[in-house]
Amino acid sequence: MKLIRVENYEEMSSKAAQLVEQQIRDNPRSVLGLATGSTPLGLYEKLIEGVRERGISYRDVQTFNLDEYRGLSGEHSNSYRHFMNDKLFQSIDIQLKNTYVPNGKALPVEEECRRYEALIDELGPPHLQILGMGTNGHIGFNEPGTPETSRTHCVKLEQSTRNSNARFFSDRDEVPTHAITMGIESILKSEKVLLLASGKKKAQAVKRFLEGRVSKDFPASFLWKHSDVTLIVDREAYGLVKAEEE
Ligand code: F6R
Repeated sequence: MKLIRVENYEEMSSKAAQLVEQQIRDNPRSVLGLATGSTPLGLYEKLIEGVRERGISYRDVQTFNLDEYRGLSGEHSNSYRHFMNDKLFQSIDIQLKNTYVPNGKALPVEEECRRYEALIDELGPPHLQILGMGTNGHIGFNEPGTPETSRTHCVKLEQSTRNSNARFFSDRDEVPTHAITMGIESILKSEKVLLLASGKKKAQAVKRFLEGRVSKDFPASFLWKHSDVTLIVDREAYGLVKAEEE
């Protein structure tokens, strides 16, 4: 595991953008694994800048998103499809047909999960997978207890995850109870993983992750089984590890 320590969110986003852009330069037909949430927003802004100012092109890039809320269509303003279109895809030269997000409305859901995993196998797996870390160690929507052998599947969201995502909804009760997510095994298939963590609220999770003990109770810890993981962490998120070092 490679650890990159930076000062703040801005630096984390710039460093992550450098690595993503290097991947695109090395292989303009790259497959990227993408996340939503607050963590990668700054990264996505930098990638948009990269198209405008650094001549980066996504014309031949394909993307797979980690997850989608169950029951929301891609047009719903809180769907992850909408988030990706809004925060990244519409502002770069990617072809929308090359961007994949699970369909939260598809029934039966098991069939949609199989379809998505098969697509990852056919077109991917991602050369580079971007991940944010949940405060309880979740990656994608793989909550504590998710087995290492999990592939794309439907999950019941933990109340803590629903609470922390409630900030995007006008009413707490509107947060869906279920989601479709790539599994741990699906994520571990990626060639490289870029894990991002910023801010005090991630400090406990970063500390636990860096203990390096693989446990089902802390899904991000399965990343220790992957041979090419880079963690970019800012000062606040590293705070508890630093306090122990001193
Ligand atoms: C989102 C995702 C989640 C988030 C995690 C952290 O696609 O997969 O695992 O990365 O919940 O969320 P933020 O970045 O909002 O702190």
